[in-house]
Amino acid sequence: MPLDIVVGTQWGDEGKGRIVDLLARQADIVARFNGGDNAGHTVTVAAQTFKLHLIPSGVVHAHTRGVMGSGMVVNPATFFAELEALRAAGVDIGPGRLQISFAAHLITPAHRALDRAQEQARGSGQIGTTGRGIGPAYTDRAARRGLRLQDVLDRAAFREKMLAHIAAANLQLAALRAEPLDARAVAAEYDDFAARLAPYVSDTGLQVWQALKQGQAVLAEGAQGTLLDLDAGTYPYVTSSYPTAAGALLGLGLGAAPIRRVIGVTKAFQTRVGAGPFPTEVSGPAELHLRGTGANPWDEFGTTTGRPRRVGWLDGVLLRYAVRVNGLTEIMMTKLDVLGGLDAIRVCTAYRADGKEYEQLPLGPADLSPFEPIYEELPGWSADLQGARRWDDLPAEAQAYIRRVAGIAGAPIGQVSVGPERDQVVDVPG
Ligand code: IMP
Repeated sequence: MPLDIVVGTQWGDEGKGRIVDLLARQADIVARFNGGDNAGHTVTVAAQTFKLHLIPSGVVHAHTRGVMGSGMVVNPATFFAELEALRAAGVDIGPGRLQISFAAHLITPAHRALDRAQEQARGSGQIGTTGRGIGPAYTDRAARRGLRLQDVLDRAAFREKMLAHIAAANLQLAALRAEPLDARAVAAEYDDFAARLAPYVSDTGLQVWQALKQGQAVLAEGAQGTLLDLDAGTYPYVTSSYPTAAGALLGLGLGAAPIRRVIGVTKAFQTRVGAGPFPTEVSGPAELHLRGTGANPWDEFGTTTGRPRRVGWLDGVLLRYAVRVNGLTEIMMTKLDVLGGLDAIRVCTAYRADGKEYEQLPLGPADLSPFEPIYEELPGWSADLQGARRWDDLPAEAQAYIRRVAGIAGAPIGQVSVGPERDQVVDVPG
């Protein structure tokens, strides 16, 4: 019963799509378990590269079946736009290949309007959300008044629920001095979505469990990263779902028994979109080096929002933390090639606060502002790593960096990526 879980160890954008793409070749089912269209995964089909925000990216492999789990929040407009984009690229995915859990929740225009209005009301305390309505949709779920995918199966009742949802949201919007929504127009739009969504709705937890019992391989695809987890992350600068390995179980409706591997993806450095403390953040020449200019699609600018990402040195304290809270069996390191050309590379091994040193966070990562990073400096390398395919192709300094990061994190690094193409991956000998 092999279940492999891929999670991000940082603030999202670690390049999880890479490892998902590799592992999906051996998977029967690819399953997304958290978040909504706040995520952005770059996928390549034939010669075309495009972005998926919602649909599990492993479905581009023709032999796989896709699942969107109960831990997700679904914007139907994005869902159908992605199906259309995939179809145009020659990947025709219908209900026979993709199913959504009846217990996943719907995102509505009211959630998006509330997301924007609430952010504005936060003033200088803004979270920097993606504006996709994620927080308000999960709020409705927790408040037990959300709209579930199951609701689309009874269109008349769904319409009534939608009208009540918009009426309630309009009261909240009025309190935030935001424009109200036209409840009837939204209900009409969602009635059409309901008809089109219905064939996709089922008990995906049961299907995944049955597949695992038959010995099929299931790949759980996380969105965002550990530090954006509602409980485990840098609260309140987090998303409203559970991107950690525990979230995969809850968000797919599974127990822990089938887990085989838990793979944490980390960049060779650190990035963050949105607000919140970032101890190893850099500015100046190192910042420009790590972010890139935006000329390449893989430079550090948001996939969903286009915002320039904040960048910094790899934070070993946070990586060690991610190893612990996810129970990682291995790490995959991405974008090692980006470090090429730096004279020296820094990695944070511990924090200092009030004259004390910390290898572990005393109270989790919620408030990182008191901590100053303690760095170790490793020699850089000038060679371009993009052509490397084997361990021996890497310069000794790059090998030393990989080994040292694994030591700091306390988990093996199984693979590193050295460029955006599928084959630009190097296996790390054990
Ligand atoms: P929300 O998920 O839109 O509510 O945004 C909450 C926080 O999570 C913000 O700091 C976002 O920038 C961040 N966030 C959400 N999704 C992603 C992602 O896929 N990659 C990186 N950051 C994300």
